[in-house]
Amino acid sequence: MLEVPTVPSPSVTPQPPAEAVAPLMRGLDVLRRLTDAESGDGTLALADLARTTGLARSTVDRICATLAHLGFVRLDGRDASLAPPLMTVANACLDALRVPGVLGPLADELADELDESVSLAVPDGDGIRFVHQVLRRRALSISFRVGDALPGGGCAPGLVFRDDLPLAVDDQLVERGLVAVAVPVRGPSGDVVCAVSVVSHTSRHAAGELAGAVRGALEKSVRSMESALAATSYASGLRPGPRGLSSKSGADIGLAPIVSLARGLTVLTAFDGAHPTLTLTEIAEATGLARATARRALITYEHLGYVTHEDRAFRLTPRVLTLGCAPLSRTTLPRIAAPHLAALSKRLGESVGLSVPDGDRVRCTARVTPRRVMSVDIGVGSRLPAKDTAAGRLLQGGGESAVADGPEAGLRSVAVPVRDRAGRVVSALDVTAHQGRGDDDAWTEALRDTAALIAADLHVTSRFVSVPVH
Ligand code: PHB
Repeated sequence: MLEVPTVPSPSVTPQPPAEAVAPLMRGLDVLRRLTDAESGDGTLALADLARTTGLARSTVDRICATLAHLGFVRLDGRDASLAPPLMTVANACLDALRVPGVLGPLADELADELDESVSLAVPDGDGIRFVHQVLRRRALSISFRVGDALPGGGCAPGLVFRDDLPLAVDDQLVERGLVAVAVPVRGPSGDVVCAVSVVSHTSRHAAGELAGAVRGALEKSVRSMESALAATSYASGLRPGPRGLSSKSGADIGLAPIVSLARGLTVLTAFDGAHPTLTLTEIAEATGLARATARRALITYEHLGYVTHEDRAFRLTPRVLTLGCAPLSRTTLPRIAAPHLAALSKRLGESVGLSVPDGDRVRCTARVTPRRVMSVDIGVGSRLPAKDTAAGRLLQGGGESAVADGPEAGLRSVAVPVRDRAGRVVSALDVTAHQGRGDDDAWTEALRDTAALIAADLHVTSRFVSVPVH
């Protein structure tokens, strides 16, 4: 992967209005710093968070404890990491924007037809922000993530928006060797709602020639996209009662949560595809917050550029995607599962892992094994005959659980399925240990609890992006 020059999230300098909620501003700052962390994986040491935000370490600890209480951040020793449930915030924004949900499948088709990467971007401030990415893996591939931003003048979609062009070409503006062609997609009112880009490499297409090569397919795709937007109903759906954020973490964090931060964050998840704009009254109703509380949160969000309003209708801006989206969206099932496997291994004191089918074998994609004198030794990547393992039997035979004596003499394994959003089994979760050390029923129950946690994280993450299962 090449180093890609993304735009850092803007740091806000103007004086906040008197009614802005300071703890909410600090919490959002922490989430943004984790999103922008150098590692790209949404993890920073608490000490580094204190340094970069300029906040006292005790303040950072309390903010992170609150975010952990909401399930948005995971605390692991000295580090804080973004956690999958935070994707509910990005999902609210992506859903309310409508573009990824309505046009994403058409962008996927275009990528298949052209066998090139395709992305959808929306304007965000002076630049653009990606809301959908279909990557074609190549030896040389640039890979922006959903939520990443580029400057307006520095990429093809940016030129489309800035100069109101019917077609713009990026001839290695972003990166040497990278070429892209972008065209606008218009909503029913004629406004440009997003730009669709076809992205390639100079080894495949010169910039001038790329436009000619993809133009026909691109124009046809844009027509389908515009019809899809016109056919999308903008009627508000019924809302099933208040949908505030629930506390997701059972961990005892020892610090009292900051109520104003937790409450303020619920405002973002009041929006969705059926409610892309909301009035203050509707937000108060949807979140269960007092009007005055919701109003102050909105003032805070508007000041920071996360929300705009026209008359009485408030709307999220794509900047909401700076709250965790890019690092959380570029992940895999084994990475999502890792903390859950560690907790399960600790709970059972045994080796636990994930596997996927691989011909008549199963391939281990993740494994956590406790240290002990005699321990099960199945490495990530190892392939075992499916019939000798519980995971293999489950993946081949279906069902809600499977057991096997194996994969070696003296071992026993129990497995349960992990399902994707559509209910398909995508992986098997197993415990494998020396025979006679555990109880199948107790193991099955523990595996099911963990499979449910892994699936919940997978489902929230994969709502608008695809998550590889290995
Ligand atoms: C992309 O990665 O999707 C991309 C990059 C540069 C552009 C357009 C799209 O100019």
